[in-house]
Amino acid sequence: MEKWRRTQSLVSMLIKFLFGFEIGIRMDIHIEWGVEDKHRSVISEILYDSLSEKFTPVFGDRSRGVPFVKEALVQDRVVVAQVNREVIGVAGLQFHNKGYLDTSFWKSWKLLGWGVFRMIINGWILESKVPKDTLYLDTIAVAEHSRGKGIGVMLLNEIIQFAHSEGFSCVKLSVIDTNTRAKSLYERLGFREVAVEKVPYPWSRTFGFSSAIKMVLGV
Ligand SMILES: CC(C)(COP(=O)(O)OP(=O)(O)OC[C@H]1O[C@@H](n2cnc3c(N)ncnc32)[C@H](O)[C@@H]1OP(=O)(O)O)[C@@H](O)C(=O)NCCC(=O)NCCS
Repeated sequence: MEKWRRTQSLVSMLIKFLFGFEIGIRMDIHIEWGVEDKHRSVISEILYDSLSEKFTPVFGDRSRGVPFVKEALVQDRVVVAQVNREVIGVAGLQFHNKGYLDTSFWKSWKLLGWGVFRMIINGWILESKVPKDTLYLDTIAVAEHSRGKGIGVMLLNEIIQFAHSEGFSCVKLSVIDTNTRAKSLYERLGFREVAVEKVPYPWSRTFGFSSAIKMVLGV
């Protein structure tokens, strides 16, 4: 798939160079719910690579964290974006007391070893209490090479529509203070800031950010 994507952009660049205009090559975009087993690895890699500042302090370095996330992904709390059958985006949700990552203590122990205790100590600071009427967007990431092409907006619109059709009253999320581009994307879709939560020391040092902005959209 990576090879096909490179060929597409090479052809497009060549045409631009020779004839001076750009061609749009048709993208077959799908938004799907759930995690196919064959996609678990790539989904975990996109999450880890896009949000390493959150994932590394909780699950450890990539070599341990990616297999853990792969194992822990929860089927009905994950939304996936595919372009030409290649997974390029993912969103993880929390609602009705269940999040998009879940596994037993013993499976976690098997994959993370003593790192389980780091996961417990650092993980709780990122946890959010989610009321029954709320759909919480815990995470969203698009592979770096596919950003800025509208995939994030498609994922968000799917989630907003789902929240509406399932009778939730709002969608909530939390964005770190330094992620101004993601914040402006949420604002453009109608989310508004409702609170700023300080990250207490020493977690502010561990994660490298000092506050998280809580945002909400009524649906
Ligand atoms: C935030 C993110 C999911 C948006 O997905 P996307 O497919 O790039 O978004 P879209 O193409 O639908 O919309 C583009 C808008 O996204 C925002 N954006 C945020 N981070 C961006 C990035 N690294 N690259 C491009 N756009 C980004 C911008 O507001 C941009 O609008 P602009 O082009 O007018 O500046 C994606 O950029 C990403 O994975 N970032 C890294 C992980 C992350 O920060 N997740 C959010 C955690 S709260």
